[in-house]
Parts: sequence; C-alpha cells; structure tokens
Amino acid sequence: MDVENANCKMRVSQCTDMEIIPIERPLKITEEITGLQRLVEELHKVFSSDHVNVQDVQKLMAGYKSNQKDWKKYAKFDRFRYTRNLVDAGNGAFNIMILCWGPGHASAIHDHADSHCFMKLLSGNLEEVRYEWPSTVESEVRKVQNSRRRCCSQSEELADNMTDLEICHNDSCHNYGVKVSSNQNGDCIKYSDGYCAEEMEEVGRTRLEVNDVCYINDALGLHRMENPSHVDSAVSLHLYCPPFDSCRVFDARTGKPTEVKVTFWSMYGKKMNRIIEANAVADSQ
Ligand code: SIN
Repeated sequence: MDVENANCKMRVSQCTDMEIIPIERPLKITEEITGLQRLVEELHKVFSSDHVNVQDVQKLMAGYKSNQKDWKKYAKFDRFRYTRNLVDAGNGAFNIMILCWGPGHASAIHDHADSHCFMKLLSGNLEEVRYEWPSTVESEVRKVQNSRRRCCSQSEELADNMTDLEICHNDSCHNYGVKVSSNQNGDCIKYSDGYCAEEMEEVGRTRLEVNDVCYINDALGLHRMENPSHVDSAVSLHLYCPPFDSCRVFDARTGKPTEVKVTFWSMYGKKMNRIIEANAVADSQ
C-alpha cells in the first residue's frame, strides 16, 4: 500500500503498511464539489467511516473550485502574521480551517504532530518549502521505525563491510521517508541515524497555484509555507486529521525543536479574544 491508500483516520505512526510513493499529479477529479459548505458535508461523510483513504480526501478537496463568496466570512487577516480561522471541527475526527497570509507572511518550519495535513490554495500564491528532519529529533513515526529496525537487526546479520548500515529482508520493515536505498539484491538498506545535521536541509520547494492540493505528514518530512508576494495576500484551506493543538517548530540554523500551542484567530467566522499571544506556528526566525 502506498501513502495515498493509507488510512488517514489513524495517526501517521500507526499506519503500519504505509510506504512513501509520490502522490499522483495531476489528481483526476471524479466529482466537482459545488461550494465550501458542500465540501465540508462530503468530508463529514467520508470521515464517518473507519478507513479514510488519503487520496480520496485529496480528490474531494481538489473537486472544490475556490470561490471567494464561500470563504470570505472566514478570511480574517492580521497585519503582522498569518491567521488560522476555524471553519469546522469535523466531529473531532478532523478540523478544517482557512489560513490568511498577508504579503511576505510565512510559517516557521514545523512538524504535524503525527497527523495528516491536506492543504488547498484558495487565492494568491504560496510556496511550500520542505526539510529533512534533523538527525537529533525523533518523530513518533521515527520511534516506530526505529523499533522495527531493532526487530530487523535481531533476525538479520549486518554485512561485514557495511558496519553502519542495516540490511533488512523482512516484510515488517517499511520505508517511512528516512534515507533508504537498495543494494544490488534489492534488499532495503537503512542508514543509521548517526549523522550530524546542524543546519536544517531544505529538500524541495513547490509553488502552489489556486486550487492545487498538497499533502504532508511527519513521515514525509517537515515544511514551512510562505507567501512570496510583497503586495498580494493569499488564502489557503487546511485539513488536519486527527486535529492537534500543539506541534513543534524548528530553528533552521540548529534544528532545535520548540513545542508551541496552535490557536485560532477566529472560529466559525467570529473573531476570538487574543488571549494567547503566540499564534500558531508563525515564523519567528
Ligand atoms: C502551514 O502548513 O504552514 C500552516 C501551519 C498551521 O496550521 O498553522
């Protein structure tokens, strides 16, 4: 099974049969979704079942064609940083929100607290910048991966000339996005985590166009978003499953993580009192 077929109602670290395969692009839209309200209703239907396929959620989100009339009541901006505006709490299974980015606004490099993150651009331009995990920081996914690795090394002998590699012929070992390659026999070779990554490594940039949908989870790495325009704002729709109220942000120069609470600027179109000063994972670097 690939990441598209992984059950996104489970935390990423619990998706034991997930492999990382690039998401098919462009997504084939099977049904057009008329209006944000209809999209939310369809998402409720999908998330009421136990197994929710990652690609089905992507397709639903891609099937909605952005229309400002649908979302402008949620689009509340702040001069200084991007805002998070809750649209629907998804019966606790997911939450969906509108993020408003002023010119130059950006998020800090962050993880996704072992959740699945879907994102659709509704207006303007956004750039997604991806990073490798720092070698010193363990995600839930990596913990699971490392315990699998230990299980593999008990049953397999390390090759004499590959002292820092682990070889696994065992089906219970999976690729969760760490550096994995194959030897001539096609066995999976996992590099031990002993490398020192002081500065965080950028591994890719993607410019999103209006209506594009993208997906990330902790197995795929870390990211930050940025509105590259100095004059125009941008608006995006985000779905998280399961919802989370804290995550980790990372210092690009040291890889050092800091746990931050994520908050809403408005809920259901109503502005919140600004009790907590730190909004979400706004770029602090
Ligand atoms: C992002 O993906 O950059 C937005 C993070 C958030 O939910 O605040």
